[in-house]
Amino acid sequence: MSKTLLHVVGTRPNFVKIAPIYREVAAREGIDQVLVHTGQHYDAEMSDIFFEEFGLPAPDVNLAVGSGTHAVQTAQVMTSLEPVLDEVKPDWVVVVGDVNSTLAATLVAVKKGIRSAHVEAGLRSFDRTMPEEINRVLTDRVADLLLTPSRDGDENLAREGIDPERIRFVGNVMIDTLVSLLPRARERWPDVRARLDLPETFTLTTLHRPGNVDDPETLDEIVSGLLELSRDLPVVFPIHPRTRARLDEFGLMPRGADGRLRLVEPMGYIEFMALTSNARMVVTDSGGIQEETSYLGTPCLTVRPNTERPVTITQGTNQLVESRRDAIVAAAHAAMDADAEPGRPELWDGRTAPRIVDAIEAFDRVHG
Ligand code: UD1
Repeated sequence: MSKTLLHVVGTRPNFVKIAPIYREVAAREGIDQVLVHTGQHYDAEMSDIFFEEFGLPAPDVNLAVGSGTHAVQTAQVMTSLEPVLDEVKPDWVVVVGDVNSTLAATLVAVKKGIRSAHVEAGLRSFDRTMPEEINRVLTDRVADLLLTPSRDGDENLAREGIDPERIRFVGNVMIDTLVSLLPRARERWPDVRARLDLPETFTLTTLHRPGNVDDPETLDEIVSGLLELSRDLPVVFPIHPRTRARLDEFGLMPRGADGRLRLVEPMGYIEFMALTSNARMVVTDSGGIQEETSYLGTPCLTVRPNTERPVTITQGTNQLVESRRDAIVAAAHAAMDADAEPGRPELWDGRTAPRIVDAIEAFDRVHG
């Protein structure tokens, strides 16, 4: 009998993770799938462009929840997803990552007795001031099948007393997307470079964590660090809408850097990977970019006190840096002088999506 998977995505990094899974399911017999976009991210450059680049069809359902406080956003995903599950009656709800849409969808599925699979389970920053950490811990507590990207994920889940039967180490599905689109990113590079008028070496930066951008003093320290760095190498800064709003609100929008700190609109995946693979270094507070830079061998400075992705430090190119001007400048100078080797943790091999679908099918065989 055929089964139906219902995938729930809401934000930019979710699209990167679901695309290879969607493709894998489409290639298999006996599995139907439905794609639900919660609408947590809704701007064209935060959402539509990724569907086009990844060859994802338009979502079957868009819940259009939009922005709001955590409570409002989480609640709206829950109340608007419930009737969709009633209608579609999927056998599985598949969620990815750690955003509000991830937790909300898992809660609805679990209470309706629908199996749920969490892709990117087990990651922990051990920092409960991060909204994502709450989402991770709670999603893993209740989802049926926990698909981990790295061995530390298995260890974290075991420490939390989770039944090993629910855990499968499958590798990092974000790397599937990277491997499949890297040739196109390489092809696009000359155009991107010409359009941004970049020299051979430059720094790439992204920032969006509330811990960095919602506090004026912290944001000022980071922007001052980037301005200082831009005196050595131009800094390209595709700017997340949250960050743009805060820079405006706090009067911190950098000006007068002679175009050496280049604020640009959020970019599509292919152009962003063209930049990431050619940058001398990346300064970021993103989760996924820590992994992508590691795989590509681009030095990464993560402006955060902790990371839920420790393999990017032990096996990759990542290091943590305090959100202070001087710390950022000193770490960047050291990184510029050092050589970085690509980091390829176990099963970051571009073939994680088939293992995810295999794990779901195997779970059904065992549990009926
Ligand atoms: C969310 C995730 C974060 C993830 C990030 C990736 C949570 C708790 N956070 O953070 O884990 O790393 O996505 O980008 O789920 N906005 C727009 N247009 C959009 C989307 C957002 O203008 O398309 C603005 C709105 O002002 C909104 C703000 O950005 O209030 C924040 O959006 P939100 O989805 O709440 O969180 P992110 O910071 O994007």
